Amino acid sequence: MGKPDLSVELCGVRLPNPLVLAAGILGTGAELLRRVAESGAGMVTTKSCGPSPRAGHPNPTVLDWGHGLINAVGLANPGVEEEVGIIARAREMLEASGVPLAASIFAETVEGFADVARKVAEAQPDFIELNISCPNVADEMGRPFACDTGDAARVTTVVKEVTSIPLIVKLSPNVTGIATIARGVERAGADTIAAINTLGPGMIIDVHSGRPILANKVGGVSGPAIRPIAVRCVFDIYEAVDIPIIGIGGVNDGRDALEMIMAGATAVGIGSAVRYRGLEVFAAILDEMEAFMVEDGYDSLEEIRGMAHT
Ligand SMILES: Cc1cc2nc3c(=O)[nH]c(=O)nc-3n(C[C@H](O)[C@H](O)[C@H](O)COP(=O)(O)O)c2cc1C
Repeated sequence: MGKPDLSVELCGVRLPNPLVLAAGILGTGAELLRRVAESGAGMVTTKSCGPSPRAGHPNPTVLDWGHGLINAVGLANPGVEEEVGIIARAREMLEASGVPLAASIFAETVEGFADVARKVAEAQPDFIELNISCPNVADEMGRPFACDTGDAARVTTVVKEVTSIPLIVKLSPNVTGIATIARGVERAGADTIAAINTLGPGMIIDVHSGRPILANKVGGVSGPAIRPIAVRCVFDIYEAVDIPIIGIGGVNDGRDALEMIMAGATAVGIGSAVRYRGLEVFAAILDEMEAFMVEDGYDSLEEIRGMAHT
């Protein structure tokens, strides 16, 4: 038996392997994105960018609390005008590796999403990802669009009207019926669903000072602690839609990645694990997946995708 085939196709775009650098993790510059691709990622996602530059929340913004991370980076980004240049440079640098690029965007209004998408599309990323699910900016931006089927569908519709670049819509676990929301964005034209964004918001208190550790007090929870929730969300979404899913949340090794695919994911996002295992995490997870597949006698990911539903 040869090596198992780990390549996947997402909306007609070929990924050399299913591991996707999740938004907000190292995706701040073209050079970093190239390094992540060279380290073995099958696709890379940029840090979410909005209409204008944002400083984000004051430090401390990220904390490893023992069973995961909690973050309130607060969508720090250089604004779309500068981001277009970063995406164009990153595309050039990634060309030789065959690793596709997803540009993540956010805005405070439905129309704002269309404006940012129109500008980002000039740089021709392989995908545009709509971050409608950040839980740590509710003070400024209100309830995330991903928390309501109508809002999520409206954002998807307006962006579909301004670009033909395949659209990934990133959903939130902080809802009672993620499958209904997934169905709503699929009907509105989403090409792929990414799930999940961080859980929460949550809070960690320093028991010596008696005060919340994050300057923003609350933040989104990620990493191993949220994996069972992410797997359940992907499972529910798979039953509800026909479009592919990028399963994200707490994936730290090859076993976890295969679990996501068995729940129904086509590709698997890697976020907090980069913090735990360094840039080598992509190559290491691919080796772990391969070893498992050889041991259990699988030749390709198609054989195991959605297995948990049978
Ligand atoms: C420090 C940090 C920053 C993040 N920034 C973004 C972001 O800008 N846009 C976004 O859509 N998700 C962002 N996320 C969420 C991740 O992309 C991912 O959905 C989440 O962390 C769950 O995956 P994980 O458990 O593998 O980290 C961020 C997560 C972390 C830990």
